[in-house]
Amino acid sequence: MTSEELLKYDREHLWHPYTSIVNPLPVNVVESADGVRIRLTDGRELIDGMASWWSVIHGYNHPVLTKVLQDQAARLSHVMFGGLTHEPAVRLAKTLVDITPEGLELVFLSDSGSVSVEVAMNMAIQYHYAAGNPRKQRFLTVRSGYHGDTFHCMSVCDPVNGMHQIFSSILPQYYFADKPECAFTDSWDQDDISSFTKLIAQHHKEIAAVILEPIVQGAGGMRFYHPEYLRQARELCDQYDVLLIADEIATGFGRSGKLFACEHADVVPDIMCLGKALTGGYMTLAATIASKKVGATISAAAPHVFMHGPTFMGNPLACSVAQASLELLLESDYLTKIQVIEKSLQRGLAPCLALETVADVRILGAIGVVELKEPVNMERMQQAFVEKGVWVRPFGCLVYVMPPYCMSSEDLQTLSGAICSVLEEDSVR
Ligand SMILES: Cc1ncc(COP(=O)(O)O)c(C=O)c1O
Repeated sequence: MTSEELLKYDREHLWHPYTSIVNPLPVNVVESADGVRIRLTDGRELIDGMASWWSVIHGYNHPVLTKVLQDQAARLSHVMFGGLTHEPAVRLAKTLVDITPEGLELVFLSDSGSVSVEVAMNMAIQYHYAAGNPRKQRFLTVRSGYHGDTFHCMSVCDPVNGMHQIFSSILPQYYFADKPECAFTDSWDQDDISSFTKLIAQHHKEIAAVILEPIVQGAGGMRFYHPEYLRQARELCDQYDVLLIADEIATGFGRSGKLFACEHADVVPDIMCLGKALTGGYMTLAATIASKKVGATISAAAPHVFMHGPTFMGNPLACSVAQASLELLLESDYLTKIQVIEKSLQRGLAPCLALETVADVRILGAIGVVELKEPVNMERMQQAFVEKGVWVRPFGCLVYVMPPYCMSSEDLQTLSGAICSVLEEDSVR
């Protein structure tokens, strides 16, 4: 197929995320990708600012990861996980138990971030059922959150800007506290958690779990909130016999400047969800990791088993590449690399603050966000970025980047420079 034929068929037959099927936003055809560069079929190369939605932390086509995947494919690509097990799954589970906060010990492997959140929420309900509290079936979260697009997930995404409004009449109605306003670097204001405190005090008899993205609210607004919020949320969960689910799908594996964002607040959740960067962006894989207390309680009462078993649970290809990706990460000085990216983004994006159109610039770890006063024209802006040789995909009022950790200082400068100049050009239109 020529690129033209491919684009025509794509336009007529393929759903792309969050765009019309009859009048979709334009797409670019990728021929290959290597390191931090995405190569288009017309020969252009783009420096990747998105790490393919947080996942490609080591860059594309990493020789170690590619080799591990090829070797594993030659041995065992897939086998059902019911009644069978294999070394890639066991080794990965051991690594995850070793590196996640103390107390998280039971690993449920699934296919995607959204499924791992579904699993976590089911576990929380079944835990209370087994503990003799069957009324505890609902959830408490905060506004501006995002946890995925399947049904349980949608019910805890921000009910207004969570992109799922049309389903609101059939989604279970859960409790939403005000979004945390105290930013990561602000001084703590005790009022910030008052709406959360009130809701958990009023409704704890019906609440199975609190679900939060620790410290970084991702697709719901790219906001960085105060660690004290998370710390106090943990205490309130303990006080009211409510489980805490930490959705680390976006933040896990160093992105916020700690291996897991919960570490900013020294908090151990009862259940943690991981995905995205777990395989270094090579394959889809997610994990829901629970405490022994959760597993033992679920198993103590009928039906004595956790009722979930995805076909591709524990896929050996995904597990082996995840294990190799984690080894690469842990053997590297990733926290220093992330600090270098943080400093570079701070320096590089600061000039945006001078633009009339910009409301805020914020950086945490290897995440850089420019928030605009008005929603961007996505089509025009994405094209402008491509013309400058970078891949940045804005949404709503947000232009944001989370580069692969291996990006060089020069490429980081080019990336930030392109954002500043595209926003400057756009501000005078
Ligand atoms: C915090 C968070 N939770 C859950 C999800 C859903 O993950 P997936 O897209 O793999 O289903 C995402 C995806 O963006 C996310 O950022």
